[in-house]
Amino acid sequence: MKAEFKSTEELDRLLRQRGLSGIWRINRDERPLDPKTAVRPHLWKWADIFDSLVQARERIGIQGGSVERRVIRLVNPGLENTEMTSHTMLLSFQLIQPGEVAPAHRHTMTAIRFILQGKGAYTNVDGHKMVMEDGDLILTPQWSWHEHAHEGDRDMIWIDGLDVPFIQSLQVISFEPFKEKRLGVRSSSDLAPPYGMTRPVGEPSADLPAPLHYRWRDTYPNLKRLAEGTLNPFEGAAMEYVNPLSGGSTLPTLSCWIQLLRPGMRTLGHRHTSTSIYHAFRGSGTTVINGEPFHWEQGDTFVVPLWHWHEHANRSSKDEAILFSMHDAPILKAFGLYREEKQGETRLGL
Ligand SMILES: [Fe+2]
Ligand SMILES: [Fe+2]
Repeated sequence: MKAEFKSTEELDRLLRQRGLSGIWRINRDERPLDPKTAVRPHLWKWADIFDSLVQARERIGIQGGSVERRVIRLVNPGLENTEMTSHTMLLSFQLIQPGEVAPAHRHTMTAIRFILQGKGAYTNVDGHKMVMEDGDLILTPQWSWHEHAHEGDRDMIWIDGLDVPFIQSLQVISFEPFKEKRLGVRSSSDLAPPYGMTRPVGEPSADLPAPLHYRWRDTYPNLKRLAEGTLNPFEGAAMEYVNPLSGGSTLPTLSCWIQLLRPGMRTLGHRHTSTSIYHAFRGSGTTVINGEPFHWEQGDTFVVPLWHWHEHANRSSKDEAILFSMHDAPILKAFGLYREEKQGETRLGL
């Protein structure tokens, strides 16, 4: 029997009741030529972050309490519902006091730590004890046990970068607290594969020491050397932390960079489908995002959302500026969705 309808609205209502939806209901705005994002360009001042950490230090205890980490997240103004820094990444700051232990756990989210200040704390990842120093990058691959402990005498602060919102969107979050009180530290002989770089045929993959710790004392001389040569016009002297096991990006979902802008340097603008979060590790500068200038000093952190034009400038005529950054580009590249547009010689106004 042929059904008769009075109006499209009536048809839509009927389809809804049946768990169906007509594609004619899609708004043209939902199919833009240029990618659209809810993530907004934003800069957080170090003075606000530091003061918030100090206030949290007075009120939030992590010893024996229900709180496992004293961490403050950067919330993008376009993502207040989710309290994430971008749609794919979360960047936070963590403070640990002397004598504290942030208990062990593991999760399906991948994490990185970039160390900002203090001495004497270590992070233990799957039994690898890594003593943290300023400028070090330490990786916590997904599902690896990790615990932080502080044996020094001054507060330590570092950046935590994670792929939380991406893993959330895939609905594969798993989180497991460690059952014992402390995570054991393996001795160096435990960490060495028993047959070196060979293994008996038929045995499963050897437990190779994970490439987890990039020391500033190695990174900085390499960065300086690169900065003496020809610079990338869009990035200055920029290096990606390579994962030596894969030869690829730092981690499957995150790429970490360290970038030096020579005194007075100004890069050309470009835009891409990946999102970037920058932390001003040294120096001061200005990054113009879609025509809006964001002035940064040491400790400030800012987001460049996807498909937004951006260019960086070092505002000092005598001091170098160094940016640490985290990018979701490996996700885009894995699915053939990475796209970049360069601005050539045309400059955005500073
Ligand atoms: Fe964790
Ligand atoms: Fe870029």
